[in-house]
Amino acid sequence: MLKDDIIRELEENKGVPLSGQYLADKYSVSRNAVWKTINQLKKSGYDIVSGHNSGYYLAEENDIISEQGISVALPEKDKDLRVKVYDVIDSTNNEAKRLMISEDIDRMLLVANQQTGGRGRLGRSFYSPADSGIYMSLIYRVPGGVRNPMMITMAAAVAVVRAIEKLTDIKPGIKWVNDIFVGDKKVCGILTEAVTDLETGMAERIVVGIGINVRKEDFPAELTNIASSLRVEDVTRNRIIAEVTHNLLELFDAFDAASFMPEYISHNIVVGKRVGYERTVKNAGIDGSVKTGTEYEKAVGVVKEVCDDGSLLVADDDGIEDRIFTGEIKMGRNA
Ligand code: BTN
Repeated sequence: MLKDDIIRELEENKGVPLSGQYLADKYSVSRNAVWKTINQLKKSGYDIVSGHNSGYYLAEENDIISEQGISVALPEKDKDLRVKVYDVIDSTNNEAKRLMISEDIDRMLLVANQQTGGRGRLGRSFYSPADSGIYMSLIYRVPGGVRNPMMITMAAAVAVVRAIEKLTDIKPGIKWVNDIFVGDKKVCGILTEAVTDLETGMAERIVVGIGINVRKEDFPAELTNIASSLRVEDVTRNRIIAEVTHNLLELFDAFDAASFMPEYISHNIVVGKRVGYERTVKNAGIDGSVKTGTEYEKAVGVVKEVCDDGSLLVADDDGIEDRIFTGEIKMGRNA
């Protein structure tokens, strides 16, 4: 489609004027067709500059998410990744799972400008307004499968942290398990879902869903104290999406916890903090032996360590140590 070709030309030549004649010749269409398409793109929000006789170009600050814009920003080795961009969708994780039912996809990136049913962990919703955030899901077939999807989530947190540190001056932190914080507020959440082979218990394909607040300044009342955004002006969402995706693929393709756990641990903001958590109830049997049940109870304690296997070591107020492998911790006033 001419529209897609012109978006690609503009993304590849950001800031460089392309004449209507050049585009018309290249795609064997009339100059009028080029002009009409440029006008349509402008109407749909593209920040296209058109000077007298100087041609058309995309302003540096243009921030429309597009397949072409992401692909241009991806390094050469990742350019063949299938990418699909939606203006509005219920949830990119939902769409990924729908696609996986009808197609045998090895890897694919789905991105939305807005989600109407964005999902967070533990059944919560994820606030996903238009034009200011990144809502992306990577479908990835894990060669040989993965037994512990939590490690995937931790690698994803490192992928996001690396991207933020490369593209901005921000120093992000990780709140165990997978929230990215700037200061004391959350700017990014990660929801990893797996399609598990019931016989082997291995996750064969995973969907890593990442939501990043990039430019939003005013959050709904219930989120103002807990959520914030990167508030960067000079980096496009396409660029951030491409960097996060590249990092994810690099970490997943050569999956080795040793290559990211030190970074995961050193970025954690939970060590030394007082947190609320849930632990398994340990019942004393009649014979005095300790039986560990599947019941949970609430506890409060101080985090001593994020361990190499991704678990959290917490000491409660009586000095009893607990190792937490899943779930969530509450920090600060919520502990
Ligand atoms: C959390 O903070 O609890 C996880 C939030 C994950 C949000 C992302 S946005 C893209 C993908 N689609 C969803 O519906 N959720 C994830």
